[in-house]
Amino acid sequence: MDARPIGMFDSGFGGLTVARALIDLLPDEDLVYVGDTGRYPYGPRPLAEVRDFALQITRYLVDVHDVKLVIVACNTASAAALDELRATFAVPVIGVIEPGVTSLVAATRNGNVGVIGTVGTIGSGAYQHAVAETHEHVKLTCAACPGFVEFVERGETGSDQVHVLAERLLAPLAEAEVDTLLLGCTHYPFLARTISDVMGRDVVLVSSADETAFTVRRELEEWGLARPPADPPRSARHRWLSSGDVAWFRELGRRLLGPELDHTEAVSWA
Ligand code: DGL
Repeated sequence: MDARPIGMFDSGFGGLTVARALIDLLPDEDLVYVGDTGRYPYGPRPLAEVRDFALQITRYLVDVHDVKLVIVACNTASAAALDELRATFAVPVIGVIEPGVTSLVAATRNGNVGVIGTVGTIGSGAYQHAVAETHEHVKLTCAACPGFVEFVERGETGSDQVHVLAERLLAPLAEAEVDTLLLGCTHYPFLARTISDVMGRDVVLVSSADETAFTVRRELEEWGLARPPADPPRSARHRWLSSGDVAWFRELGRRLLGPELDHTEAVSWA
């Protein structure tokens, strides 16, 4: 039993999809969320730079907030840094790629699966590798979707412009006749309506958020790190930190995540 908070981070708002699933599954756990909005997007950056950011933020969560477990709630950072984070820190580190792939191969009916993500994630080969590791007989089509993250960060999740962009970027997936599409960037579930409109209702959209939350629950149990039941009952403490515009983080974050995001704090890397 361990009452310390869980730490998690993303380049910005995307990790809130994972935070939502985590709060719903583990409502008693305290949480510290870092949205690195001052340095988003991560997707177009060299993987080595993203790895440095991930090491820096994880160090901050461990040293300053004394977190008991870290969730890399960002596919790009998971692709760039998961192995190194696990080798560097004593706390368990959970990424979003493996949980997403587990859901993907479980959901397909015709064996034609797709993954979309940032340029960094798709270019890293992390999904191609993770799908091969499952030894499932599936045909994988991957596509990078540059620009999607920027629409989400601006709070523009249903505009005509994002629809036009989605039609162009998702064309290879439609051509490959995928029946299941993994949203391999934690920002993309906020664009699910647009993506579903373009792909058609028969294509199942899978996000890594729920499966990641289940993985966290399992790890907490295995490591004996779950929060002890409180007597009398208490409300969990959620802290929301942003390295960019904290007022915008609160406004859009609350819209995207819900009422738990009731205040934001600034964090700087200088
Ligand atoms: N949400 C992040 C991911 O899952 C990346 C977004 C970005 O490009 O900053 O890949």
